[in-house]
Amino acid sequence: MRTLAQTETEFAPPAPAPAPSDTGLGAALRSQFPILDQEVNGRPLVYLDNAATSQKPRAVLDALSRCYAEYNSNVHRGVHTLSAKATQEYEAARAKVAGLIGARNCREVVITRNATEAINLVANTWGEQNIKEGDEIILSVAEHHANLVPWQLLAARTGAVLRHVRLTPDRTQLDMDHFRTLLSPRTRLISLVHVSNVLGCVLDAAYVAEAAKRVGAKLLLDCCQSVPHMPVDVSTLGADWIVASSHKFCGPSGVGFLWGRYEVLESMTPWMGGGEMIADVYLDHSTFAPPPARFEAGTPAIAETIGMGAAADWLRSLGMDRVHAYENEIGSYLYERLSAVSPRVTVYGPKPDAPRGRASLCAFNVEGLHATDVSTLLDFAGVAVRSGHHCAQPLHRELGVAASARASAYIYNTAAEVDAFVEALQDTIKFFDDAHGGAA
Ligand SMILES: Cc1ncc(COP(=O)(O)O)c(C=O)c1O
Repeated sequence: MRTLAQTETEFAPPAPAPAPSDTGLGAALRSQFPILDQEVNGRPLVYLDNAATSQKPRAVLDALSRCYAEYNSNVHRGVHTLSAKATQEYEAARAKVAGLIGARNCREVVITRNATEAINLVANTWGEQNIKEGDEIILSVAEHHANLVPWQLLAARTGAVLRHVRLTPDRTQLDMDHFRTLLSPRTRLISLVHVSNVLGCVLDAAYVAEAAKRVGAKLLLDCCQSVPHMPVDVSTLGADWIVASSHKFCGPSGVGFLWGRYEVLESMTPWMGGGEMIADVYLDHSTFAPPPARFEAGTPAIAETIGMGAAADWLRSLGMDRVHAYENEIGSYLYERLSAVSPRVTVYGPKPDAPRGRASLCAFNVEGLHATDVSTLLDFAGVAVRSGHHCAQPLHRELGVAASARASAYIYNTAAEVDAFVEALQDTIKFFDDAHGGAA
């Protein structure tokens, strides 16, 4: 059996990764995020749980507070001044989201509660109308539960067959050779994650879109981890629908969106019934509004939607190319420094120099330690990372683990914070090793 001492002698850590300059974007933006300026457990907060939810800049906090302080009112329903202003701001938010994702028609943006609701909406409308027994839906083993369970429910109702793209043999990304073998004339829908919330791998969306077109299948992309971090342009992406959640791109929680090609949305019957989504209502039947109103039954999350619009505008004002470039830098630094901590550290997903790169998140495990223990000790040092299955249980089974810890960076994180995280992780490993009387 190898001891820690032996392992460490055998392990020649790679040369330290060059640190991104702390005069870069991260440092420049921090003062706009009041929450970051605090201590947690007596140490400066290092917030590295951005893949779960991001923090909000002052521009978003101000938009929320202005809505409630100055013009709070219901939308689409009143002729009075406050209602007109609320409606105008709500619809402006839709246009801002459309702008962020390159949608030319803002009526293609449906406001939902989150990405999960957006996927359920497609499953319960287009899915119910178009999927029959024996039809095939291609998903992958790396999907978030939000992109697995709605299709399982649909398959149970319709008798459709679910096919799952597996991982490459090195288990770092989706196996496109396997994907090819799953395509058939029975394929009606392909629904895949654009950027994995665990592996950080980036889907070859152009290839998948071309394949979907070839077999006449519809394509949904789960863009929860791409829209916040990189340019996503629906006019060239080739998808029929994309989904994302505001809380992951600097906006409020409780709101997200479904983008769909207009003719596809127009072909979809309503899901939830109620106010706002109708044209005319009689006692025994109703006629329905065109999209997007058809899919927005009831009073929406008005202030939150306006906040989501402010977040979309704020990101666009930075430039998504610039955001992506900085995240590549900080993400590579995070990956390299974390990988160099110890040979007992496994970081999942591709290397940063993989052809399509990787997201600025690292799910990892330390051999002999439980991910939750690692995260708990990191929290004592003021470092917030997530632990668990990250709503991707099937993927963790593929990786042969029940859970992982995950450090995920965003535009306001700095190299100094990555250093603080790495130092806290080294202390954590040492703490448990000492407690166990040597190597775990
Ligand atoms: C890849 C991915 N898809 C879907 C979701 C679900 O997002 P929400 O819970 O905001 O609907 C998440 C959230 O973690 C995610 O990372």
